[in-house]
Amino acid sequence: MCGIVGYVGRRQAAPILVDGLGRLEYRGYDSAGIAVQNGHGVEVRKLAGRVGALKVEVTRTPLIGTSGIAHTRWATHGAPTTRNAHPHVDCRERIAVVHNGIIENADALRAALERAGHRFRTDTDTETLAHLIEDAPGATLEERVAAAIAAVVGTYGLAVLSADDPGKVVVARQGSPVLLGIGDGEFFVASDAAAVLAHTRSVVYLDDGDLAVLTPDRYHVTDADAHVQLRDVSDIAWDLEAIELGGYPHFMLKEICEQRETVQSTLRGRLLFADGTARLNGLNLPPETCAGINRIVIVACGTSWHAGLVGRHLIEELARVPVVVEYASEYRYGRQPPRPGTLAIAISQSGETADTLEAMRAARAAGCRVVGIVNVVGSTIAREADGGIYLHAGPEIGVASTKAFTSQIAALGLLGLYLGRQRGLSLEAGRAFACRLAQLPALVGQALALEPEVVAIAETFATARNALYLGRGVNFPVALEGALKLKEISYLHAEGYPAAEMKHGPIALIDADMPVVFVAPRDEVYPKVLSNMQEVKARGGRIIAVTTDGAGTEGLNALADHRLCVPATAPLLSPVVTTVPLQLLAYHIAVRRGCDVDRPRSAPGGSGSVPQSAVGGEDRGRAGGSGHPPAPGGGGFQGRRSHPPAGRR
Ligand code: F6R
Repeated sequence: MCGIVGYVGRRQAAPILVDGLGRLEYRGYDSAGIAVQNGHGVEVRKLAGRVGALKVEVTRTPLIGTSGIAHTRWATHGAPTTRNAHPHVDCRERIAVVHNGIIENADALRAALERAGHRFRTDTDTETLAHLIEDAPGATLEERVAAAIAAVVGTYGLAVLSADDPGKVVVARQGSPVLLGIGDGEFFVASDAAAVLAHTRSVVYLDDGDLAVLTPDRYHVTDADAHVQLRDVSDIAWDLEAIELGGYPHFMLKEICEQRETVQSTLRGRLLFADGTARLNGLNLPPETCAGINRIVIVACGTSWHAGLVGRHLIEELARVPVVVEYASEYRYGRQPPRPGTLAIAISQSGETADTLEAMRAARAAGCRVVGIVNVVGSTIAREADGGIYLHAGPEIGVASTKAFTSQIAALGLLGLYLGRQRGLSLEAGRAFACRLAQLPALVGQALALEPEVVAIAETFATARNALYLGRGVNFPVALEGALKLKEISYLHAEGYPAAEMKHGPIALIDADMPVVFVAPRDEVYPKVLSNMQEVKARGGRIIAVTTDGAGTEGLNALADHRLCVPATAPLLSPVVTTVPLQLLAYHIAVRRGCDVDRPRSAPGGSGSVPQSAVGGEDRGRAGGSGHPPAPGGGGFQGRRSHPPAGRR
C-alpha cells in the first residue's frame, strides 16, 4: 500500500515529511516524493526509488517551508517512474496532490480535462485530481477540493497543498485510510499512525466522506454533507520502538522473535480460569445471541485465511457450530442467500484489506452479524464490525505476516472457548482449555529456541528450487502457511498440501531435489502422517519434520533427515507452536538467498497488506472503504487496549 504524510505547523516540513515516509516505506516503495509550500509556490521533489534517495535529494537541494505533503508509492496506475511518482501537480504547478486509492473514472475525467485544455504529464489516475481542483469553483482550497471530489468515482485518501492557500493542507477520505495527528501548534496527516508517532500519540481517524482542513492553529473536519464534525481523538497505544528494528537485521525476524510476548498480549486479561471461559469485552455477542448461532462463516485473505482454517477446527470442536472458511475475494462476489443465525468473522491483521472488508459487508447485507479479529486499532474493519477482538500484537512492519498469525489463532482459541461455554462446553473442559491457552507464550518461547537448528537446515536447503509442505487436520493450514512464507520472501516455489492428498498426484514430484516439510506433532493423525512420510522416503525425498518432543518418535526419527522438536500442547493449539520453526525456516532461507525479506519483490505493502491501493480492488491491499458509521467510540471494538509487548515495533 502506498503511504501519505502531511504536515502543517511552525517547523520546517521537509525533514518531518521525509522521516514520516521512511516509517511508511514498508507499505509501498517503488517511488517517493514531497511537495512543500515555500511562500511563493509549491516546490516538488520526486524520484523512482526509495525514501533514502529522496532524503539525499532533499538534503542536496533543500525545500524551505512549514507546510507540505509527501508520498511513497507502490505503482498501480502507470509505471514506477519519477514522472509517475506523487505528488502530482496541476497545469500551473500551484496545486499538489498525494493520493492512495483508485480513481475509477480517471479515463473519462482525463479526456474531458484534456478537451478543456489541461496538459497531463503522467500516466496516473491521481493527476486528474490536481487538474479537477485547478478548475473547481470555490474561494478556498477546501471548497475547491470538495467540488473536485464530487466528480470522482473511486477511492481516495488524499492530501492537497496549494500555493494560493499558504499554510494549509486539505485532506479527504473515501475508502482509503487517513488519520490526523494532533500536535501543539502543528498537525499531521498520515495513512498510518507509524508516520506521526515520533511527534504525537493523539490521532483522529477520518471516516469516509470526511474532509479535513489543517492550519497551524486549528483543524476541523466536515462530513459528506459539509456538516462540521467533532471526531474522537484516540491514543496510539504503542511506542516508537515498536516500529524500529531494535538491533534485529529485519522486521520479519524481530516480529517472529516477539511472538512469545505478542501471544501473551493477545491473551492478557482475557482468560477467566475459575469460570473456564474468556472475557471478550469488545465482542458484543451476548449469551442469547451465541445461543442463536447455527453457522459461522470466516472470511479472510492469505495468512489470515490460514488462521481462519485453524479457527474452524477450534470453533467446531469447542462450540459445536459448523464453520465454513471462505477466501474473502471469492465470498464477496458470490451469491450470499440470507441465512438467519449465521455469524460472520472477518480476520485481518491490517483491518483494511479490501476483499475482506467487502466480504464483511456482503455478509452483513446477507443478514449476518459480523465480528472482526483485527490487529490494527481503529482500522476500517474494526470500526464497521458489530464487535470483535483486537490482537494487541503491535504493528506488523515486515511484509510477511508472522506474529499476527499466532495471535489470530490465540484469539480464535479465546473465541472458541467463549462460544463453547455459552453452548454446552463443560466447566471442566473450559478450565482445561483456558490453562492450555495460558501456556502458549512459554511454549512459543521454547519453539523460538530452535533457531540455531533451523539455521543449519536453511543452509542445506537454500539452493533448493521447490519445496512441499504437508500436514493433516489442524496442522494442514500450518503447511499452507509455511509454504506461503517461503514462496513470498524467498521466491522458491512451495506448495502446501494435506499430507494424505500427496499420493493423488503431487507424489510424482518427489525426488532427492524436493525437500518435503512435514508438520507432524504427536496427535491423533500422527500415525497417518508417518505413513505419508514413508511414501516420501520410498521415493528418495528429503524430509524435514516439525514434531513434538518426547517418547514415541522413533518411527519418525528413522524417516526424517532433519527434526525440529517443538513442545507439546493441546492438539487444537499446536499450530501456534508448529508455525514458529516454519517462519524461521522461510526467513533464514530467504536471507541465505540474498532476498530483501522485509520488502519482497512482489509485495505491495505487507501482510500487511497489498497493493492495496485498491479498495474495492482485487489485490491484497489494505485500503478500505466505508460508508457505514463507525462503531461507538470511534476506535472500533471496545475493550482493553494494551501496549504492545516491550521491544515490539
Ligand atoms: C502473507 C501475508 C498476506 C496477508 C494478507 C491479508 O505473509 O502477509 O497473505 O495475510 O494480505 O492481510 P490482512 O491480514 O491484513 O487482511
